[in-house]
Amino acid sequence: MEARVRGATAIGGEVRVPGDKSISHRALILGALAHGEMEIQGISPAADVESTARCLRALGVEISLAGDRAVIAGAGPEGLSPPRAPLDCGNSGTTMRLLAGVLAGRPFESVLVGDESLSRRPMRRIIEPLSRMGAEISARDGNFPPLRIRGGELRGISYALPVASAQVKSAVLLAGLQAAGDTEVVEPAPSRDHTERMLAYLGAPIEVEGRRIRVRAGELRARPIAVPGDFSSAAYLIAACAARPGCTLLVRDVGVNPTRTGFLDVLGEMGAEVIALDERKMNGEPVADLLVRGRELRAAEVGGELVPRLIDELPLLAVLATQAEGTTVIRDAGELRVKESDRIAAMAGNLRRLGAEVREFPDGMEIRGPCRLRGARLSGFRDHRIVMACAVAGLYASGETAIEGAEWAAISFPGFFRVLEGIRRDG
Ligand code: S3P
Repeated sequence: MEARVRGATAIGGEVRVPGDKSISHRALILGALAHGEMEIQGISPAADVESTARCLRALGVEISLAGDRAVIAGAGPEGLSPPRAPLDCGNSGTTMRLLAGVLAGRPFESVLVGDESLSRRPMRRIIEPLSRMGAEISARDGNFPPLRIRGGELRGISYALPVASAQVKSAVLLAGLQAAGDTEVVEPAPSRDHTERMLAYLGAPIEVEGRRIRVRAGELRARPIAVPGDFSSAAYLIAACAARPGCTLLVRDVGVNPTRTGFLDVLGEMGAEVIALDERKMNGEPVADLLVRGRELRAAEVGGELVPRLIDELPLLAVLATQAEGTTVIRDAGELRVKESDRIAAMAGNLRRLGAEVREFPDGMEIRGPCRLRGARLSGFRDHRIVMACAVAGLYASGETAIEGAEWAAISFPGFFRVLEGIRRDG
């Protein structure tokens, strides 16, 4: 499906976004591992989250879903039963990597498969630590899905993560919950910590000391979870307004966990004004209403430890960089090349088609601004974040921008194009 986006002269209003995808995956998985009935309010409607629910059901977990409310009948890890067929993780790396951590500790064989994109994504990063813990895992060329996992008795390890990845960290922690002795993970830079927060909320024996996270076997108690709006989805709306002096937008009930909001730090550096109002906590996760006031932007430099805190927003930041005065440089972001698509190549190609000046590096890119974008035909690369970043670019471009593969937005944000049109305030 192709989407057409016309350039906008103004953006504004008040909106909400669907529930956080990362937190929803974890609520389903930890709900299945907990004891008792767990209620989740505001669960994400994302196709990726459906993939997690589908796999858990295939493992014998009862999940009832009505609108954005889910109830999971948790029966502990022992409650999972051997799947009759390969578990289909669809497009979702989080589903595959987190479930691999769970299945590493189960005394049966399971096979995890994914779509074309997921089948090209690296899995050695989880195979290595989970094998050291005692699981038997095989993969195509030792690195790619399908994954065949024969789980069993695990022993705790101390593991220094070679890449800052919340998915890998979570896989090891989920295995650690079922292992003998302590499991320790040390992160090279802070990545999203939703797993740690939810484990603590559900009563798991977990300790966090800076970058060192320690967990051991223990029971989880089912407790209700309310999922905040997805910051990564809100980011597209924020970006649509941020570079427009005089425009104001309010995004309500957004998760503002600091391990996710690096994009706001960079926006601040670029001169945009985003104010967090009514900050509060929901089951251990900070939430706020975000008020955006558009401003003239200046370029920023992004790299180092900031990168994992805005990894999913970097394609969008590249779009905003075209509207900022000066040269924006993104470095240390080689991980973008192994996401749902090669997001560096995808954005460099699309932004050039719109008329932007972009240089590509192995680990990032450089964008010269400000630049008048002209509507063009863009490829979504079957990647939700590329599709949505291109749509925001289309709002800043003159004329019309056509985005091929627009349906992929539903991987994380069903209804995205409707919400985006809803904040248009053209003269
Ligand atoms: C996610 C972690 C990130 C992120 C992905 C979701 C998660 O991946 O890019 O969209 O829910 O844990 P990595 O941790 O592999 O960088």
